Amino acid sequence: SEVAKVYNDGVEICLVIGGGNIFRGMSMAAGGMDRSTADYMGMLATIMNALAMQQKLEEMNIETRVLSAIAVNQICEPYLRRKAMRHMEKKRIVIFAAGTGNPFFTTDTAAALRANEMDCELLLKGTKVDGVYDDDPVKNKNAVRFDSLSYTEVLTRNLKAMDATAISLCRENKIPIVVFSLFEENAFKDVLQDKRHHTIIS
Ligand code: GTP
Repeated sequence: SEVAKVYNDGVEICLVIGGGNIFRGMSMAAGGMDRSTADYMGMLATIMNALAMQQKLEEMNIETRVLSAIAVNQICEPYLRRKAMRHMEKKRIVIFAAGTGNPFFTTDTAAALRANEMDCELLLKGTKVDGVYDDDPVKNKNAVRFDSLSYTEVLTRNLKAMDATAISLCRENKIPIVVFSLFEENAFKDVLQDKRHHTIIS
């Protein structure tokens, strides 16, 4: 419903969804596994989440398409950039599943890659906290939130906003990144209108 509010304001949206909720439940099984196998399992988890998101958006009468970086043709379309562009022109929300399709690349990196490919004006990362802090705000009550940062500051100070590959990709093409909390009502809409705490990396 948070996505629907922004969509109904006329904003073009494409989504990259993680698989952490499912994957963390399997992490015992993944313990001791090689990284590639664990990452492939994570990618499959993102496909399940993408389908769940599609279902919920369509219940709100928003047309969506799920495009997967791994071929699972019976379940959803394969990712093709020009097809994704076409869907967006038709005012559909495009949900990108299966990350980049490669192990060793995170969901953050997949989001940065797709933001670049889709010529996005902004990349928003919805997370548990309302921005980037100088220390873990869950563990350290005195951690301070940044209003804005440069890409280079995030990288050199090793701040836990997004991984370095994602930051570098956005820096190259000057796509600003906004980090905000998913867990507050209206946050997505408010952040776009600059009415709520967030951190912008640009
Ligand atoms: P336009 O032709 O641009 O209007 O796009 P469209 O997505 O409506 O056309 P298409 O006829 O390709 O798709 C109709 C439905 O089939 C949509 O729900 C698509 O998501 C789905 N679809 C298209 N290609 C695939 C595929 O390879 N696998 C699966 N599982 N579904 C697909």
